[in-house]
Amino acid sequence: MLPFLPASGLSAIAGDWYCGEQIMKRLVVLSGAGISAESGIKTFRDSNGLWENHRIEEVASPEGFASNPQLVLDFYNLRRRQLKEVSPNKAHQILFELEKEFDVQIITQNVDDLHERAGSTAVLHLHGELKKARSVHNNDKIIPWEEDLNWGDRDENGDQLRPHIVWFGESVPEMEKAVKLTSTADIFLVIGTSMQVYPAASLINYIQNHCEVFIIDPNLSNRHTKSEFFLKMPATEGMVELKKILQSKC
Ligand code: OAD
Repeated sequence: MLPFLPASGLSAIAGDWYCGEQIMKRLVVLSGAGISAESGIKTFRDSNGLWENHRIEEVASPEGFASNPQLVLDFYNLRRRQLKEVSPNKAHQILFELEKEFDVQIITQNVDDLHERAGSTAVLHLHGELKKARSVHNNDKIIPWEEDLNWGDRDENGDQLRPHIVWFGESVPEMEKAVKLTSTADIFLVIGTSMQVYPAASLINYIQNHCEVFIIDPNLSNRHTKSEFFLKMPATEGMVELKKILQSKC
């Protein structure tokens, strides 16, 4: 299999799709909490603005952490423990399967590891990862963390550790990479996100004119672009449909 050619290189080729052959189309995916909902992980905004009985700001902001660090650590400890009880669903699995025919690049807002556990090989976590911790003094000191994280847990420099999660009001270090990926997409899929959180939601502005856009969400109805294809259904069902659509074009 030859390496991916940038989208600009494809424009010289007649309009056929090349899937799993010499040149793969680049499928860039922006996923959100909805893709993991059928695995049993609750979304953020489907329950009265409360997230597992907490206001989002209480457990997902630097101010929340400063005012009650153990509450915040416990909150993410529960989420981390929950990862051991859930499994990737059909939607995650199909995204992995599509790697046979497409150059699949996933940009996820999710902090779970279900894309990786389904086998996906290119996953960019915009909002951090539950199974990592980092120094409260140095955002670049990130270490793997599988178990509970408590006040008093320190890195090798003696710095207190915090969850490796991008909280509200913090910068999104992976955004630049996400913008670059989006601008090279031949196909862009938005799946299971309310598109309410920026800068992630702004990625849609970076797709190029030739790019085909698909949305999978059972509830959303607002249009993001002039010509997207809307699959108003749960992620697992939507991915089965999308796979058929994409393969029919190969
Ligand atoms: P939201 O909870 O805002 O949106 C979830 C979306 O998933 C909604 O549009 C639902 O309609 C849709 N949905 C629900 N069930 C679904 C299913 N079975 N299949 C497909 N879609 C389904 O979650 P996000 O958009 O991911 O940030 O939220 C973005 C960010 O806000 C999160 O990353 C998180 C949160 O604050 C941080 O924690 C930093």
